[in-house]
Amino acid sequence: MSGKLIDGTAIGKEIRLEIKDRVSNLLDNGCKPGLAVVLVGDNQASRTYVKNKQKSSVEVGMKSELIELPSTVSEEELLGHISKLNKDNSINGILVQLPLPKHIDENKVISAIDPEKDVDVFHPVNVGKMIIGQQAFLSCTPYGIIKLLERTGTEIKGKHAVIVGRSNIVGKPMGQLLLQRDATVTYCHSKTENLASYTQDADILIVAIGKTKFIDAEHIKEGAVVIDVGMNRDENGKLCGDVDFTSVKEKAAAITPVPGGVGPMTITMLLKNTLHSAEKAYE
Ligand code: GUN
Repeated sequence: MSGKLIDGTAIGKEIRLEIKDRVSNLLDNGCKPGLAVVLVGDNQASRTYVKNKQKSSVEVGMKSELIELPSTVSEEELLGHISKLNKDNSINGILVQLPLPKHIDENKVISAIDPEKDVDVFHPVNVGKMIIGQQAFLSCTPYGIIKLLERTGTEIKGKHAVIVGRSNIVGKPMGQLLLQRDATVTYCHSKTENLASYTQDADILIVAIGKTKFIDAEHIKEGAVVIDVGMNRDENGKLCGDVDFTSVKEKAAAITPVPGGVGPMTITMLLKNTLHSAEKAYE
């Protein structure tokens, strides 16, 4: 079997058009949703991510504000900026790009963001609410993956979803969102013994382990849907995921490419959360 490609670029674009329409309704009523991005230091990858987030927010008609701070900024000063943004009525979403310099306590900074504006869904209150199904926002990458599954007609209810990776940003919330949609969920990670015995039973396999070509055709059940969250460089410097795309696509029913799979969905869901926050603030 040769697997169908799950086109995150196209699906992301479709959802961003829907977001743009709703932003347009708010603009007609004199309300402009605003996303503030805080960038500390000069990490090149962070700079690129932030630029893409800003560009995408402007494209759907939102206000974009960048707070750029040197890597030497004190924790106190950074917290001061967050406090200001919390009180700023023109800002509906606040995002502090991670990682932060070592002298700054990331947990303290995340906890300082008003949960109503925490569109990244990193604040412990929002993570807790999401897990008990009381959420205002859903974690961006897992929410994006749910949209990919839904929009490609993948049945989730009753299916066995196996997640490889247990990060706070992807693996853990991913399992919860699938559980809420009635999947049976198994978590695997770097210390799991006999990994293939779990992945070979997956109807839906989600891989977020951060290791190039960690999953190959031997790990896959014929007809599985495979979602690759990895973003790595291969030996030739080419972008690649955690899944050996060439061999796995022959066995899978559907698979996301890297790039062009999960990546475009993460920013899209960030915009969706910002829109949601603005609609709530202006209702
Ligand atoms: N660093 C890597 N991924 C992310 C993300 O999704 N949000 C933020 N704020 N920082 C990140």
